[in-house]
Amino acid sequence: MPGIAVLGAQWGDEGKGKIVHLLSKNADMAVRFNGGTNAGHTVVFNPDQADQAGESEFRFHLIPSGALHPNCVGVLGNGMVIEPFALAAELRQLSEQLGQAPRIWISQNAHMILPYHPIVERLEGATSELDTTAKGIGPAYRDKTARHGIRTCELRSPGRFQELLAQNLARERAIFPDSQELQELDPAKLTEQILAATDGMRDRLTDTSLLINRALDEGRAVVFEGAQGCLLDIDFGTYPYVTSSSATIGGVGVGAGVSPRRLERVIGVAKAYATRVGAGPFPTEETEALGRRLREQGHEYGTTTGRPRRCGWLDLVALRYAVRLNGLTELALTKLDVLSGLDQLQVTVAYRREGERLTEFPTTLEELSACEPSYQSLPGWSERLESCRSFSDLPPSAQRYVRFIEEQLELPVGTISVGPSFHDTIRIAGG
Ligand code: IMP
Repeated sequence: MPGIAVLGAQWGDEGKGKIVHLLSKNADMAVRFNGGTNAGHTVVFNPDQADQAGESEFRFHLIPSGALHPNCVGVLGNGMVIEPFALAAELRQLSEQLGQAPRIWISQNAHMILPYHPIVERLEGATSELDTTAKGIGPAYRDKTARHGIRTCELRSPGRFQELLAQNLARERAIFPDSQELQELDPAKLTEQILAATDGMRDRLTDTSLLINRALDEGRAVVFEGAQGCLLDIDFGTYPYVTSSSATIGGVGVGAGVSPRRLERVIGVAKAYATRVGAGPFPTEETEALGRRLREQGHEYGTTTGRPRRCGWLDLVALRYAVRLNGLTELALTKLDVLSGLDQLQVTVAYRREGERLTEFPTTLEELSACEPSYQSLPGWSERLESCRSFSDLPPSAQRYVRFIEEQLELPVGTISVGPSFHDTIRIAGG
């Protein structure tokens, strides 16, 4: 069986964790290929029973959500940035919740987020100006591109690791000579702490590209789990209000060492409305009552930072952009249940700019900020959707909403999520 990629089609937080978890039930491997602890995926699942009783919530930041299934190996690919203390804590917590440690492999070429990265991010002003997750993501990727980043393989040689860490710390201290926090970091002590935290992990470091390609050669099912979303992609997102990695299809190639030709399905995950956390343009944002309602009904607070998410109507111009960039083969539509109880739903089908109608997403902030959404109204529904298990169980207006999205995007919706549980899901034939 070939590879399947699951990618965020909006501004992140689309519910990829649940979709990956569902798909990984019969998969042999789940792979993360971008980002780090900025990601937060939540899965509601009962590992012991097939039913909904006794379900627990599992939160993932670094480990792929598919690794919850005992037969599925989790892989942290080379395109990620790995914070060693966070990985150790996540492994510990998941082991406690599951009663056994999830099986993982870690790329020996992945770069590390080290304690000076979040400090530098704050000193540079990125946390306040760009409203980042403050996890040190940007500075870690910057070090990688500047060719002085530290990769996980260096953990095998403590002396060299400490030397590289001391060099990088000295570089940052020279840039920020007044920072007491940087002065207080001691390379020898940090090395000792990092080696202790990664003690059980160092034998899990390997050439993960080889591992994944071999699994694909053997016909195993591999799911690639994107973090963040298309509009936060470093190249295609609303730059500079983006993350520092590739959240689009190209990220699978560079971040996992796998040719995109090996992917048979590319599933875009999108909420039935839109959210964004952090600063940056958001054409369909609703700042008043509707925005608040979606936030409360949809529990729209960040998994990683707890920040309230900005909410608004579904934007099909932005989604069309995600379909094109990623070559999506299907859509997974999440949180359709959150829209229950609204009389009328608005969907953006085009933008208006200086009297002109645009159907393609503008790629500069200047162009985007001059755009007004052009809405189409669709009837809402009052019924709750949590118990719907097939498309025909959905009220007619909800069916119409889904069909409208399919028609506008010329893309089938293969999965609809109607609640947080693993079971609150509708699979549509062919999807
Ligand atoms: P960074 O990834 O911490 O550098 O943050 C850059 C931007 O991406 C900020 O607006 C963050 O709020 C946003 N961001 C990063 N990761 C996620 C995510 O997993 N979900 C939603 N937004 C994210």
